[in-house]
Formats: sequence, C-alpha cells, structure tokens
Amino acid sequence: MPPRITKPVARTMDEAASLLRRGDVVAFPTETVYGLGADTFHVSALRRVYELKGRPADNPLIAHVQDVSGATRLVQRWDARCEALARRFWPGPLTLVVAKAGDVPAEATAGLATIAVRCPDHPVAQALLRAFGGAISAPSANRSGGVSPTTAHHVADDFQECEELLILDGGPCGLGIESTVVDMTGATPRVLRPGAVTVDQLRDVVGDVDEPMIRQQEASPGTSAVHYAPRAAAVLVSPDELHSALRVESAAVAVLCFNRDVVPPPHFSIKMPDDAAAYATRLYSALREAEAMAPAKIIIERPPKGTGEWAAIHDRLRRATGG
Ligand code: TXA
Ligand code: MG
Repeated sequence: MPPRITKPVARTMDEAASLLRRGDVVAFPTETVYGLGADTFHVSALRRVYELKGRPADNPLIAHVQDVSGATRLVQRWDARCEALARRFWPGPLTLVVAKAGDVPAEATAGLATIAVRCPDHPVAQALLRAFGGAISAPSANRSGGVSPTTAHHVADDFQECEELLILDGGPCGLGIESTVVDMTGATPRVLRPGAVTVDQLRDVVGDVDEPMIRQQEASPGTSAVHYAPRAAAVLVSPDELHSALRVESAAVAVLCFNRDVVPPPHFSIKMPDDAAAYATRLYSALREAEAMAPAKIIIERPPKGTGEWAAIHDRLRRATGG
C-alpha cells in the first residue's frame, strides 16, 4: 500500500501533529522541497527518519522552527549576526548552523555539537509547527542520494511501500531547491550549501561571508559530491557541444534544454526556463520526468552563468552529474 496523501485541512493537520507527538514521521511541504519530519526531541522518531531515507548516520538534519524563539530553544547562543539574518530572511530558505543546546538529542544532529535551524516560509509547514508546538527535524523527503521532492506525489513515489506515512499535500514547492546553509560558528559566516538566499544578500546583512570552493567542498557533513542524483547517468553539456553530443547517441536520451529544436528524435526533450528562479522551481520535477522516460542517459544543457541565483542551480547540477 502506498503512503496516504492528504489535503492540509484542520482535521489532517491535527492528525499530523499527534502523529509527530507519538513519534511517527510525517511528510510536509516547505517553500524549498518537501521534508520528512520527526519531533526533534523524539529519539526513535529521528532514527526512523534515517531508516526510511536510507540516510548515512553521519549526515545531520535541519530542525524546522516556527520563529526565532523556536530556534533559540535549540541553541546555546544566538548572536547578533544570527538575529540579523533571521530577521531579514525568516521565514525563508536560510538555514543557520549554531552550537546546539545540551538537551537536543545527538540523533537530531548526527552526533555533532552544532544544529542547523530554519524557519520555513510555507503556510502548511507553519501550520504544522503551530499545531505540533515544537521543533520538527526534517531532511528532504527523498531516498538518500536521489532527487529531492517538490510535490507530494514525488514523496509518494519514493516511499511507495510506506503505507503508514502521512504526506501533507501543499502543492508544488515554489522555490524548488533546498535552502542556503550557513555555518555561523566561526568568526566569519561560511556558506556550506548555496541556495535561494545568495551570498551577496547575506553580505548585505552581515558583511564578510566565506564562499566555499563549491566544487571541492565537503563542508556540509555527510553530503557527497554525488548527491541529488537521478537514477540514469546524467551529464552536463555546454550549448555548443549539445548538437554533437546528441549525434553520437544511438539509444534515446532525455535532454533538459533551453531550445527543443536542437533535440532530434529519437531523443526526448524537456524545455527548461531561461530565468534562474523558474529553472530552480522546475529542476527536480524535470529530472524525475527524465528518469521516468528510462533513457540511456540524461543530458543537461549547461545554463549560462554560475553567479547570483544561478550559483545554487550550478551546485545541484554538478552534484546530479557526479561532481
Ligand atoms: O530546504 C531545505 O533545507 C530542505 C527543507 C525540507 O527544509 N531540507 C533539506 O534537508 O534540504 P537535507 O537533510 O536534505 O539537507 C540538510 C543539509 C545537509 O547538507 C546537511 O549536511 C546540512 O544541511 N546540515 C545539517 N545539520 C548540519 C550541521 N549541524 N552542520 C553542518 N551542516 C549541517
Ligand atoms: Mg536532501
């Protein structure tokens, strides 16, 4: 039996909150991607999240909170920089990594002394946090290493055998890629994972921000270069090379491209938006559609530039194609 997808009405929100209270796992929408949530203080529920996802035990979770006071409950110290960033970007796609409070279970942070906290900007996530009344630890609601889910059906596809899983359907996620993760424990804030909040936007608020060398970085614990990866082999190809790359493919490949005309039969094309925000919103559903075509390979036409809003997209594309 597949999981249960439900509309987020008052009755099902209450049910979801009581499931969380008794240590069950609930999938819910955020503005970035869907999360697989458990009570941050419920050790066996946290273990269940790792088990369901097949997530390596050394990859820590993000705790979702309703507001700043929900975050300060989980941390040792909330400095002026955290306060300024939260005031500017919360609710929103920004995750702050800070020293954790002593009573936060090790299972919530993969044993680390730090915890990642974020206040999601989605009415259903906010309503769930309110109904539950505490913090919800949630990774993206996909099988470990696969493509993140941006619809309730994506979650159901990944957890087909989990009939006990409740999925709150909040429609497609508006942003479409995961939050920006910033380590606040050092002298200078450091971006561990690029996202919709750009480095320039962070600098506007806190001045100096370290940018990782995204290509080599293993800064975010437990994340590997190959991540967010579709099941078929995926490659990134520049617009100039696309034509010749397709000519040598005899079996049908799926192509995420900006212009369908360059993709002749028998290949499949998925047209991607030119605008960075729209591209991000579409990316994971496009990768899942490409997978579903069972192609010999997925070819992704490289978007033009890797700055600003495109930086997070280029990060995910590099990971989807094996670094
Ligand atoms: O947008 C998002 O962030 C989504 C939604 C559901 O909120 N969540 C998400 O979770 O992407 P997940 O588990 O797929 O990615 C969490 C990232 C990982 O790269 C993890 O290593 C990093 O956050 N992270 C979590 N806790 C950390 C910590 N204490 N120190 C450093 N990095 C941490
Ligand atoms: Mg994830």
